[in-house]
Amino acid sequence: MEKREELYRGKAKSVFKTDDADRLILLFRNDTSAFDGKRIEQLDRKGMVNNKFNAFIMQKLEAAGVPTQFDKLLGDNECLVKKLDMIPVECVVRNYAAGSLVKRLGVEEGLKLNPYTFELFLKDDAKGDPFINESHVVAFGWGTAEQLVRMKELSLKVNEVLSKLFDDAGLLLVDFKLEFGVFSDGSIVLGDEFSPDGCRLWDKATGKKMDKDRFRQGLGDVIEAYEEVANRLGVPL
Ligand code: TMP
Ligand code: ASP
Repeated sequence: MEKREELYRGKAKSVFKTDDADRLILLFRNDTSAFDGKRIEQLDRKGMVNNKFNAFIMQKLEAAGVPTQFDKLLGDNECLVKKLDMIPVECVVRNYAAGSLVKRLGVEEGLKLNPYTFELFLKDDAKGDPFINESHVVAFGWGTAEQLVRMKELSLKVNEVLSKLFDDAGLLLVDFKLEFGVFSDGSIVLGDEFSPDGCRLWDKATGKKMDKDRFRQGLGDVIEAYEEVANRLGVPL
């Protein structure tokens, strides 16, 4: 596999072409971003931890029947993935109230949502990732109604699989964000990453935040918390 030119540089990852038209390389950098890129800092080991965390989770999801972009780890900071046409929509599943839901509705952080909620946001930093609904996705051509049905179905399956996985490690999966893309055969595939950057995890016993809220809220020991989550799950670092 030959690494070719950079195709795209995101806030925390870079995407490279390869000599295979159906495969890309994802490079996980140490850049840590919050507030739609308004705050970016370098955190030692973050790229490596998130790359290996993501590989572990994606393989668990694939084994549970969720098609993912992940192909294989290439090194500490890189993995090989299927090339997808990304749908610019973020799918957020919440099991407990936190973050923007608390701000928007004025409910108490930690409120158990029964059942979970499923929300959509447009992936557009310049516009602050606005809250949207299904009709916007279809009307603006970001995705079809059929693709949305599949994205929701897969998001809920991910919630089922990962809620159990984290629960067994003494962690509450509070909420998470997923991004999907279309593979060359037209199927919807889970893309981007799953790591403590894109979900909220609270220790079941103490309520301690073990995810990127430590960075957003200046709580410190960000990567130490990510590493503890990885160790509890048995992710080889
Ligand atoms: P929110 O409470 O800010 O809407 O975030 C919900 C979940 O989605 C939380 O786990 C963080 C994640 N998320 C991202 O990973 N990237 C984003 O751009 C946004 C808005 C949320
Ligand atoms: N991922 C987004 C950003 O970097 C939002 C966040 O995680 O707070 O800015």
